[in-house]
Amino acid sequence: MSTTKSEPLKVGVIGLGWAGQQHLAAYQQIDGVEVVGLAGKETDLLAELGAKHGVQGRFDSWEEMLGLDLDAVSVAVPTFLHAPIAIAALDKGIHVLSEKPIARNGDEARAMVDAARRAGRVLDVAFNHRRRGDIGALKQIITAGELGRPYYAKASWLRRAGIPGLNSWFTSRELAGGGPLADIGVHVLDFALYLLGEPKVLAVSAVTYAELGPRGRGGSGRTAADATVSPFEVEDFASAFLRLEGGATLLIEAGWAGYRSPKDLMDFTVYGTDGGAELRIEGASFTPVGTLSVFTESEGRNADRVVAAEPGRAHQQVVEDFVEVIRSGPAAWARHDGSLALMRAEIIDAAYLSATQNREIQL
Ligand SMILES: NC(=O)c1ccc[n+]([C@@H]2O[C@H](COP(=O)([O-])OP(=O)(O)OC[C@H]3O[C@@H](n4cnc5c(N)ncnc54)[C@H](O)[C@@H]3O)[C@@H](O)[C@H]2O)c1
Repeated sequence: MSTTKSEPLKVGVIGLGWAGQQHLAAYQQIDGVEVVGLAGKETDLLAELGAKHGVQGRFDSWEEMLGLDLDAVSVAVPTFLHAPIAIAALDKGIHVLSEKPIARNGDEARAMVDAARRAGRVLDVAFNHRRRGDIGALKQIITAGELGRPYYAKASWLRRAGIPGLNSWFTSRELAGGGPLADIGVHVLDFALYLLGEPKVLAVSAVTYAELGPRGRGGSGRTAADATVSPFEVEDFASAFLRLEGGATLLIEAGWAGYRSPKDLMDFTVYGTDGGAELRIEGASFTPVGTLSVFTESEGRNADRVVAAEPGRAHQQVVEDFVEVIRSGPAAWARHDGSLALMRAEIIDAAYLSATQNREIQL
């Protein structure tokens, strides 16, 4: 297995949809990385992407692809397949970069983390939004202590009509594990906890609604690459209130669809003891840089400013980070065992349980 800097890193990509194509393109930009396998069920797309990126090994099932001599694999398939593929790959000693959410639930995520620890290999999860430049700029401001101690934050990703593939795996509870809370809410939860310095989440109280999707409303028009026919079994909007260690609280909203402003919105607001900040990204993931405002006080007067940030490098950065960790060797691998993504999965499990049982859930 070639994990030294001198030999090319042999990589496979499973999944040909939007996510898989991000991973494939990103690996091509990294020196010393060779994509030797590509897997997906869309025969024409497999041939097209294989030819475009010069990938020799092309497979219509992930099981076949894992027969290759691989150092690492990207898993960019419907969520129900993340755990079986990741565990099979890790058991073969292959490092894994999984798409988010890590899995359908905490139990599956825990089995993946156990497999990574057993194998002594990397399990990373693609949280590309925390790698946005505007979020990075805000992280620096919070870490520098400019806002004092954050005590209340709210973060959301809200769409007017953005259900990704009505009647596809995305809307099947069995195949996806959940609706927007699991799909885009996990990004919001990830960047919010990252910005707040990874506080422990003590309790979750959540609500979920499915008001538009079941009536065929709120679709994005986007069809999943591997469209199956599924009824609408998940929520189309969720809101979760989290109590954090140290007394701070966080409100998360995730909506695929709702009667609101037509521009998608991703945002984060934080109130701290010495200052506050608002990041507003109209157009959400399609907008490279949002508006970041910082509110502080100087000699009793408002000292507010708008902070300029550079665009982030999204999946390119995530994939480069993954390759860098692999090249750093076993001590770094042990710190990348998927446990951060597992914590997100456990919080989302608690939110769904809270919504079902109409009560706050302690973690
Ligand atoms: N990080 C992000 O910003 C982001 C964005 C979109 C999707 N995602 C995640 O990426 C994953 C895939 O999403 P997508 O939108 O690309 O989905 P998609 O439905 O468009 O594509 C899924 C791919 O998986 C392939 N596949 C299914 N079963 C397979 C099997 N048995 N063997 C090999 N390939 C198989 C399909 O053929 C298809 O190519 C999901 O987990 C999703 O949550 C992440």
